[in-house]
Amino acid sequence: MEKIILTGDRPTGRLHVGHYVGSLRRRVELQNSGEFDKIFIMIADAQALTDNFENPEKVRQNIIEVALDYMSCGLDPTKSNLFIQSQISELTELTFFYSNLVTVSRLQRNPTVKSEIQMRGFETSIPVGFFTYPISQAADITAFKATVVPVGEDQLPMIEQTREIVRKFNSIYDEVLVEPEVLLPENQACMRLPGIDGKQKMSKSLGNCIYLADTEEDVKKKVMSMYTDPEHIQVSDPGHIEGNCVFTYLDAFSNEQHFAEYLPEYHNLDELKEHYQRGGLGDVKIKKFLNNVLQEELSPIRARRAELEKDIPAVYDVLKQGSDAARKVAAQTLSEVKRAMRINYFDDAELIRVQSEKYAGISD
Ligand code: TRP
Repeated sequence: MEKIILTGDRPTGRLHVGHYVGSLRRRVELQNSGEFDKIFIMIADAQALTDNFENPEKVRQNIIEVALDYMSCGLDPTKSNLFIQSQISELTELTFFYSNLVTVSRLQRNPTVKSEIQMRGFETSIPVGFFTYPISQAADITAFKATVVPVGEDQLPMIEQTREIVRKFNSIYDEVLVEPEVLLPENQACMRLPGIDGKQKMSKSLGNCIYLADTEEDVKKKVMSMYTDPEHIQVSDPGHIEGNCVFTYLDAFSNEQHFAEYLPEYHNLDELKEHYQRGGLGDVKIKKFLNNVLQEELSPIRARRAELEKDIPAVYDVLKQGSDAARKVAAQTLSEVKRAMRINYFDDAELIRVQSEKYAGISD
C-alpha cells in the first residue's frame, strides 16, 4: 500500500512556534525522509469558516500567511502538494455522504468539538457547519487515502472519528476507504507548547505567541519577558522547572550542539535543569541561552520567508497548481465512493441494460 500523508491548518492567523514544534518541523522531516509516496498539506479555509463565517476577510488574508509560513519552514512544493481546501468541491460531496454514517450523539461526544463549543460560547446556538466539521475532516483525510496524519494531540478525537467513519463505510458499501494512523509530536513539550506567559496554549487572542515571522528583535524581547518561576527571586534561590516556560521551550528546541556552542559549561539540558533546581542559576542566563537557540532555528526560516515575500504571485501559483492536482485525486476517490454507494447511474451499462430488459417484457 502507498504511504500517504495528509494534514493541514486553519488559516486564521500566522503560524507560531507552537505550530512549528507541534507539527511543521516534523512534516518537513517526513517530507525529506523520502519514505512517503505522496504528501498533501491543506490550508483548511472551509473549516476555518465554520467558526469565522462572519469574518471571511480574515480567512482570505491568512491564506498567503500560512502558505508563506509553510514554505519558509521547508515544505517544498516539488515534494509536497500544498492546496486550499475550499477549491476541492469533492470534499463537500464526501462530507454529505459520510454524514449519514454519524449520529448527533457521537458528534456531541467528540472531546475537541465539546471544548471548542465552550471556548467559542456556542453552547446554545451552535452552527451546524461547526458541529459537523469532524465529518468534513474525515472527508479531507479519506479523499486522499491518507495512511498517516501528523497532527497535534488536540486532533486525536478527529482521527478517531475518521477511523470510525471509514470502518462503517467499508462495512456497509465496499472496501474503498483507508483507515489513517495518527502521528503525534515526539515529546510532551512539543505537544503543548505554552504561551510566553505560561498560559496553557499559545493563542493569538492572548497575545502570548512567538510567530515564525517575528523579527529577531521581537523574538528576543518575548524570550526575555517569558514567565519562569515566581518563587525564584534571588539567583541563589532554588528554582522550579515544572511550569517554567523557558525550560519547556528548551525541552522542545534545544539539543547538545546548542550547549556546546552557546553554553559550554553544561553538556546538556539535564545538567542545566539540575543547577537551576539547586539554586545559583539566574533567569537572565537561561533566557539568553533560549534566545540563542530560538534565533538559530528561526533565522533561516525568516530569511526564506523574506525571499518568498518578493514573489507573492508565485506562491499563489503554487497553491493553484497544488489545488488542481489535489482535485484530481479527490475526484478519483469520490467516483469510487459513488460506485460503492450505488449512485453511479450513468457509467453503469449493466444497470441500464437490466432496467431496459425489465421494461422490455412489459411493453411487448
Ligand atoms: N482541524 C485542523 C486544525 O484545526 C485542520 C484540519 C482540517 C486538518 N482538516 C484536516 C488536520 C485534516 C489534519 C487532517 O488545525
